[in-house]
Amino acid sequence: MKNFIFQNPTKLVFGKGQIARLSELIPDDVNLMITYGGGSVTKNGVHEQVKAALKGRKFIEFWGIEANPQVETLRRAISLGKIENINYLLAVGGGSVLDGTKLIAAGIASDMDAWNIVLKGYSENNIPFGTVLTVPATGSEMNQGSVITRKETQEKYGWMGTYPQFSILDPEVTYTLSEHQIACGLADAYTHVLEQYLTTPGQSRLMDRWAEGVLLSVMEIAPKIKENPRDYNLMADYMLAATLALNDFIRMGVTQDWATHQIGHELTALHGTTHGHSLAIVMPGTLRVLKQQKHDKLLQYGERVFSITEGSEQERVDKAIEMTEEFYRSLGLTTRLSEENIGNETIEIITKRFNERGVAFGENQNVTGNVAREILKSCV
Ligand code: NZQ
Ligand code: ZN
Repeated sequence: MKNFIFQNPTKLVFGKGQIARLSELIPDDVNLMITYGGGSVTKNGVHEQVKAALKGRKFIEFWGIEANPQVETLRRAISLGKIENINYLLAVGGGSVLDGTKLIAAGIASDMDAWNIVLKGYSENNIPFGTVLTVPATGSEMNQGSVITRKETQEKYGWMGTYPQFSILDPEVTYTLSEHQIACGLADAYTHVLEQYLTTPGQSRLMDRWAEGVLLSVMEIAPKIKENPRDYNLMADYMLAATLALNDFIRMGVTQDWATHQIGHELTALHGTTHGHSLAIVMPGTLRVLKQQKHDKLLQYGERVFSITEGSEQERVDKAIEMTEEFYRSLGLTTRLSEENIGNETIEIITKRFNERGVAFGENQNVTGNVAREILKSCV
């Protein structure tokens, strides 16, 4: 196990009716700005619950943080926040609103342009914020991550913001998600675990079992949610699984991959592919191309998650990869670029971008532009 420091300061407030606690969670004496997406919260009663919980308090609202939040929009929120002396934020929405709010929190506390903060990769100064999560998927409600798009150049990069002070997770707010949104959310959570688990074996029994527990839970609830997306207990497990998949808990002292995410971000930046869907396409390709490097862990994964015990080692590894792709398809997602009319031109753009940036992703830092090309070609 590698050395690590663990500190996750986010207070998780989980369950039915918990949005009503907002008033006790947000300090009394702050200048508050609430941030939202495009309006889904007005259709499912979340906006009303937030307003009711904050009755009598003064706040301003910023609407219109889009899916895959754009720096161009966030700059406007930062300007407004500075003019209004905002010193506390509340993000109400999915991962995009939360990620966008992390950049607003940094931008208000800084003189740097918001895109330069993203390129720098982190921010020392941030105003505090809390969240009301409406899409279980990204883990943004309990991590530092934030992924921002620059529309002008079709670029999408992750950077490290600050942890939310608190996050309210009420599974009932998920009842209005579409089947496709749920599929993408489950795929995202599942892939987050794979990015932190499918690397080198023997680093930590504890992290392995924890990760496998989240994978098995997601696989177990996925078909049941399809049948009944309004079952409270199912949606509660889904919501908590997505948080646990990316809140630092399953990656203590172990190596991580994240190549699939980096390639997926490019598909989203260039084609608007929904985040979770981009991962369902790329992850099986990453496993096919890196199956020798990941051989031993793929065997363990196959046995413990898919109960694959028959056949030669090579056959078992191949079967584990096939079953991973099948799982994504069972959610209702396509897993091939050709199914999304994405072709060679895109593959070459991504290869060129990675080569120009000189990047090398993955647990062994060997997923360069040329390896990304191989991965994408195996996804056609
Ligand atoms: O904008 P509104 O009108 O609110 O509609 C949203 C949006 O169109 C809608 N929605 C949200 N809650 C709803 C709802 N519709 C019905 N019922 C509800 N309860 O859903 C749409 C998508 O929302 P979005 O926030 O984009 O989804 P998600 O939570 O999947 O977030 C995706 C973003 O997070 C980033 C992704 O790259 C992407 O930009 N990620 C962030 C990570 C992190 N912070 O650690 C890690 C992830 O790997 C990921 O990269
Ligand atoms: Zn993700």
